[in-house]
This record gives sequence, structure tokens and C-alpha cells, in this order.
Amino acid sequence: MGYTVKISDKDFEILRDYIYNLCGIYFHTSKKYFLESRLARRMDATGSKSHAEYYQLVRSGATGAVELRRLLDEITTNETCFFRNVPQLTAMENKFIPEIAAIKSKIGFRKLRLWSAGSSSGEEAYTLAMILLEKRASLLKDWIIEIVGTDINETVISQAKEGIYSAYSVRNTPEYYRRKYFKEEAGERFVLSPEIKRMVSFSQLNLYDENKMLFMKSFDFIFCANVLIYFDLASKSKVVQHFYNNLQPYGYFFVGQSESLHGVNDKFKTIHFPGGFAYNK
Ligand SMILES: C[S@@+](CC[C@H](N)C(=O)[O-])C[C@H]1O[C@@H](n2cnc3c(N)ncnc32)[C@H](O)[C@@H]1O
Repeated sequence: MGYTVKISDKDFEILRDYIYNLCGIYFHTSKKYFLESRLARRMDATGSKSHAEYYQLVRSGATGAVELRRLLDEITTNETCFFRNVPQLTAMENKFIPEIAAIKSKIGFRKLRLWSAGSSSGEEAYTLAMILLEKRASLLKDWIIEIVGTDINETVISQAKEGIYSAYSVRNTPEYYRRKYFKEEAGERFVLSPEIKRMVSFSQLNLYDENKMLFMKSFDFIFCANVLIYFDLASKSKVVQHFYNNLQPYGYFFVGQSESLHGVNDKFKTIHFPGGFAYNK
């Protein structure tokens, strides 16, 4: 128990390609050790004696499908927190929402749709919910607001639905929001208010699943932050094209602070704001 079977170059390539074709996450050769150690945990848990045996297992019917989900849970990086990218949120709140609200008000369509794609345990989607709920007191009064959070990792989706967070998760949350929308319990547990929880629906979704992506339609805002950094150029381009198609003509697309679509997609236009940028059509 607890041993790491050294992965051969051939097995590394087989498993790397399998994972890549499934979800777009690409393990460069320099990440061989990372994949090896994550596989070791699953091989240990399933009693697989070799990488070849484990590869067989994940591809075998219903048992394989269950194991595959566990493998995906193991290899994804889920670091996140509330209010992670403040310049982005400020621009959305003060510039982009008023702009879109004006367009939609003219045609009498009082509904906003937002998507946190690669939401991890929900902090990003719930941050959007808090900001939108505040706006509902004024600019978005009587508007329908739909916020969707999706992730490939089932464990983080369950955590998101639960809505209980650690002090680490809320470390960047402004005092105003922390007091208003969390109940602090013993053991530094921050329980999210039901009002905010109700505003977001979470589900498991693989962004690399072409068929499912076709149904993610008509979003005013799409956030896909710190997700595509694990993809290669080809898989990034494929996923970003879906975001392009699924965004409203006047909508905005956001990536993480250290990311850009340079060389990935030349259809999106870059819109700068203090401290960052967004994309639109
Ligand atoms: C580092 S977290 C980012 C969380 C949040 N967006 C943020 O910026 O704080 C990356 C998330 O992307 C998810 N992810 C990676 N590949 C994915 C895929 N193919 N489909 C859906 N989610 C994916 C991971 O499971 C992980 O939860």
C-alpha cells in the first residue's frame, strides 16, 4: 500500500493522451511526476498492479466510468477563493452590467445569464451572486438572474452545493459581504446564506464535451478563469470557440489574471479596464 509504481515513457504517453482526449488537460513531459503520483493514489485504491492494468480498468464499462471520475477528481487543481479578481468584478459591476442592462431594458428583456465555467467549489459563482443580488436593489430590480456553475470534478461540485467554506476561502471577501452573506460557526466554518445559494445552480460538466457545450446557450457573462492554463493550444482553442458561440453579441468573457487568448482565438475583441481586460465580440 502507498507505493508509487514508476511510469514508463510509453505508459505516460498512453495515459496522458487518454486524459487529454477526454478533457483537454495536457500533461507536458515535465509534469510526468505529478501524473505519476496522482495515478499512484488511484492505483493503490483500486489495487491495480501496473499502469497498463489501471488503463484497462478506467476503460471498462460502468466500473471504469466511476473510476474515471475519481481519476479526474484526482488530477484537477481546484484552488480558488471568493472575490479572487477584484478589478474584473468591479468592471462587471460598474461598467458592463449597466451597459447590458441598458441594452436589454430597451427591448424589455429583463434577464441576465452568467456562467462560472470551471467553478471549482463555487466561490466564483457565489461571488457573482452576491454582487448581482446587491444590484437587484437598484439597477436590476425585478430582473431574472440565472447563474450557472459547472466543473468536471464531482467532489468540488458537491462542496459548491453544500456552501460551507473555510477561513482560507473567504480571506479576500470584503467585510461588508462577509458579514451580510455568511454565518460564521465554530471552527472557522463560514456558512453561506440560503439566499445566495438559491441563486446558483451547479452541475458537473466537462468543457471538452462538444455535445454538452452546445446546450450552454445565451450567456451575458462567461467566466472561465484559471482553467485553460491546464490545456494545450488546440484544446484551449476548441473550448474558447464554444464560449464565443455561447456568448450573447453584447456579452463579456473573462479569463484569469495571468491568462490571455493571444494566439488562441482572434475573433474576440479585447476590452481594457483598470487593472485588467475582458473579451467581447
Ligand atoms: C484552479 S480552478 C479555478 C476555479 C475558479 N474558476 C477560479 O478562478 O478561482 C480550475 C478548475 O477547472 C476545472 N476543470 C479543469 N478541466 C476541466 C474541464 N475539462 N471541464 C470542466 N472543468 C475543468 C477543475 O476541476 C478546477 O476545479
